[in-house]
Amino acid sequence: MADRVRTAVFPVAGLGTRFLPATKAMPKEMLPVVDRPLIQYAVDEARDAGIEHFVFVTGRNKGVIEDHFDRQFELEYTLEQRGKTDELAELREDLPQPGRSSFTRQQEPLGLGHAVWCARELVGNNPFALLLPDMLIKAAPGALSQMMSAYEERGGNIIAVEEVDPKDVSSYGIVGRGEGPNSAFDITSMVEKPKVEEAPSNLIISGRYILQPEIFSLLSKHNKGAGGEIQLTDSMQTLMESQNFTGVKFDGRTFDCGSKVGFLTANLVYALDRPDIADDFTKEIRALGLNTPI
Ligand code: UTP
Repeated sequence: MADRVRTAVFPVAGLGTRFLPATKAMPKEMLPVVDRPLIQYAVDEARDAGIEHFVFVTGRNKGVIEDHFDRQFELEYTLEQRGKTDELAELREDLPQPGRSSFTRQQEPLGLGHAVWCARELVGNNPFALLLPDMLIKAAPGALSQMMSAYEERGGNIIAVEEVDPKDVSSYGIVGRGEGPNSAFDITSMVEKPKVEEAPSNLIISGRYILQPEIFSLLSKHNKGAGGEIQLTDSMQTLMESQNFTGVKFDGRTFDCGSKVGFLTANLVYALDRPDIADDFTKEIRALGLNTPI
């Protein structure tokens, strides 16, 4: 039986240049979709999938992420005094258990592969989940839970994938698809940001992984890839020579909240799904007179 996955890594050290100036002093991962920051959605998804240890790879200007996952006694006291018990309960539910979160720093944003490597001491010699918080996935059960089912069946390394318009493949890591159903199929190849004509498929790596710890020694070579960054995909490609990689085409939808359009679309979709605001929000959209079926 495959070793249980207890730890999740959240790389949150990127510069978020596509969201400047909003991200000059505030981390991209704290941008809210409706009223929850992106990082909170990722932590919730991991917790729902059975994760017990939350490892954040942060950078300069990211201290607020650490504060977000800490108690805020003044705020809690004030909410209590004002009888805002629902808000108080929600704040407490959002927190990892004491001692179940760890923070380390990627001192230079050298790429996703380097950020993951920075978590090696905290992860140890264990399989781990990796969630990119700016890839927000709306799914029930959550995408990582769907991947855990594939992991229990097949072990090894698991990657969540999603189809995109073939013209967009050059913005993502792309996998080649082999035998097996959508819930668990063989991955035959992998390439980071390929040219459209060289892509093995239109299946993008959508920001959720379960990886074996052997990835760390490959990442430690610090080889640079696409865009001059240390790419995770390049090390996974090498790991494929000795270990299985399984793709999961999960039920759900990804919003690439690192891009403005993806972020705005996520806000629209999540707001329309919120019973407390959906009606009012729909009225506002209708009042804009847009030619939409909302
Ligand atoms: P992105 O590829 O979206 O990069 O990172 P970015 O730097 O954050 O944003 P742009 O492209 O400049 O707008 C995907 C995830 O990997 C993390 C980011 O924080 C994000 O969660 N990351 C990226 C790191 O932790 N370190 C890095 O060096 C690069």
